[in-house]
Amino acid sequence: MSTSTQTSESLTAFWRAEYERKAAHDSPIVQSGRGCKYDAQELRNEISRAISLLQIERSHTVLDVGCANGLFGSTLIACCQEYVGIEPVEALAKLARRNLAEFENAKILTASGDDVRLPSGSVDRVLIAEVIQLNPPAAVRRMLQEMARVLRKPGRIVIFSVPDREKQAAFESDYTEEIRRADHLSDGEKAAILNRQANAHWYAADELVAWANELGGSARVERLPENAPNCDHRFDLVIDF
Ligand SMILES: C[S@@+](CC[C@H](N)C(=O)[O-])C[C@H]1O[C@@H](n2cnc3c(N)ncnc32)[C@H](O)[C@@H]1O
Repeated sequence: MSTSTQTSESLTAFWRAEYERKAAHDSPIVQSGRGCKYDAQELRNEISRAISLLQIERSHTVLDVGCANGLFGSTLIACCQEYVGIEPVEALAKLARRNLAEFENAKILTASGDDVRLPSGSVDRVLIAEVIQLNPPAAVRRMLQEMARVLRKPGRIVIFSVPDREKQAAFESDYTEEIRRADHLSDGEKAAILNRQANAHWYAADELVAWANELGGSARVERLPENAPNCDHRFDLVIDF
C-alpha cells in the first residue's frame, strides 16, 4: 500500500476535532463516525446499498472520499481492481492504512475531497458516504468539481446518505425533544449531541442536482429503503457522467 500526506480545511474545525476524538475511540464503528450501538445488520445493508448504487465492476478504480478508518473500504476493495481512500483526519487515515494494509490494491491518502491530487480521469467510481453534512456548501461544490475532474468518463459519483434540508425542520423538532427527554443522558451529553446537530449541514436535493448538472453530470435522487436508518430525513444522489 502506498501513502501520501496533505491537509485541507474543507472539513470545519468543529468536525475535525470531533473526528480526531472518534479516531481515539476503541470501537471501529465509532471510528467510522457511527454511534456505538449501531446495528451490524444495518451496517451490512448500508454497505450493500452503496455497492449497488455504485455498480462497481472488477476492472474499476474506486475512490472513497472520507474513508475514515476504512470500514466501508474493506468491502469495496474486494469488488474492484484498485481502491483509493482519502481522509483529511490523519489519525483516521493511519487507522485505515493499518486496517487495509494486507490489500495490495489499496491506497490511502491524507487529503480532502476538494483537492485529492490524483490525475484527471483516473477513477471510475466515487463514493462520498456520510461526508457532506460535515462540509459547508462552498466546500461541497469544490468537492464535486474535483470529483468530476478525476472521474474517467463514463463514470459515476454516489453521494450517500445526504441530510435532506426539506426534512430538516420536522426532524430537528422531534429529535431535540427526544434528546431533552432522554433520562439516560447527562446534561453535558445532551448539550454535545445538540451541538453536533447544530453544526451539521443539510442539503436540498435540487441544489445538488443543479451543481451536478453545471458540471455536465446527470443526477438522480434515490429515496432510502424503508428499513434504512435515517430514511425519514436522508436521500442518496447518483450522478452519471
Ligand atoms: C461519518 S464519517 C463516514 C466514514 C465513511 N465514509 C463511512 O461511511 O463509513 C465522515 C468522514 O468524512 C471525512 N470527511 C469530512 N470532510 C471531508 C472532506 N472534505 N474530504 C474528505 N473527507 C472528509 C471525516 O473526516 C470522516 O472520516
